[in-house]
Amino acid sequence: MATNKKKRVLTGSRATGMPHLGNYFGAYKPAIELQDHYELFLFLADFHALNEHYHPEENRLNSYRMLASFLACGLDPSKSLLYAQSAVPEVNELAWILSCQVPFGVMSRAHSFKDAQAKGLDINMGVFNYPILMAADILLFDANLVPVGQDQKQHLEMTRDMAQRFNHRFGETLVIPEPMISDTVAVVPGTDGEKMSKSKNNTVSLFADDKEWKKQVLSIVTDAKGLAEPKNPDTCNVVKIFSLLGTPDEIRAMREKYLSGGYGYGHAKMELLEKISATFGPMREQYNHWMGRQEDLRNLLQEGSRKARGLATEKLNRIQDRIGLIGRPY
Ligand code: ADP
Ligand code: TRP
Repeated sequence: MATNKKKRVLTGSRATGMPHLGNYFGAYKPAIELQDHYELFLFLADFHALNEHYHPEENRLNSYRMLASFLACGLDPSKSLLYAQSAVPEVNELAWILSCQVPFGVMSRAHSFKDAQAKGLDINMGVFNYPILMAADILLFDANLVPVGQDQKQHLEMTRDMAQRFNHRFGETLVIPEPMISDTVAVVPGTDGEKMSKSKNNTVSLFADDKEWKKQVLSIVTDAKGLAEPKNPDTCNVVKIFSLLGTPDEIRAMREKYLSGGYGYGHAKMELLEKISATFGPMREQYNHWMGRQEDLRNLLQEGSRKARGLATEKLNRIQDRIGLIGRPY
């Protein structure tokens, strides 16, 4: 039977620093663009942020920054649900249930865990269990689509496996989510050419003052070719970032200037800076407006979290009933 029920899009972001262009193009923009045609759930993955070294005051500030960013990027709380992972305890309850189904061997092959191990970091159990908590975020809310950057692909595969395993054992209960990873913005490069990431000090912030934006753009690493020499646009980080923002004509023009020479990296960086300012300047006003109203941000988050909890409770009741737990109402 055909149904008109809107599909649900869900994504979360860790409040571990200032949101950056990688977050915007990889996750926020594709998610928020869908809010008129899908049910959008956007949340602070604030429990996921706790497995890193963190400072309570920074955590608080970063949470406000993320909320203000979501709103400045166009999230409309009257259409979409904005909430905090930490305010929905059912997420952790489902994470426990899932953790009792996932083999240890599967978990120990997670990239996030193996990378931490390879770097010789102190690994807490939060790092190890990270993909299970993420699966619970997604499966508790019956998400159909999950917009994320390429780095989250394996987590989505693990989520799908967990859902399939559960459904196979206990009957159709969990929706199998689809990842939504765009080819063009799957990995936005940072100023050093590596993946842009809050933890790497290589970001171009989504919102910063002009001086900070300039500093970040000027720090983009290029080769040492002089002004007159022709340059390779395909390997240049400035062009890669500009290509996310420019129109096809503007991108083509920059590439031609690279190839013909007489155009320096300094020129390209200034063009990029102008583009950043033109694209994100007006949104920055919204961002600053919300950062001046933290009480309102908190109220919005709490209201959204209450609604999210209502849905989560119902779903968890059904899940617990499926596995033969009799304590919750059904
Ligand atoms: P970070 O790695 O900077 O801490 P988060 O964990 O908050 O970022 O990620 C939030 C979302 O942004 C995720 O969907 C992630 O895949 C996406 N994302 C982060 N960095 C990039 C990037 N450089 N390119 C594309 N998407 C990214
Ligand atoms: N793990 C994601 C990241 O590091 C953030 C996240 C947590 C998430 N739970 C999620 C993303 C659920 C999408 C869906 O970027």
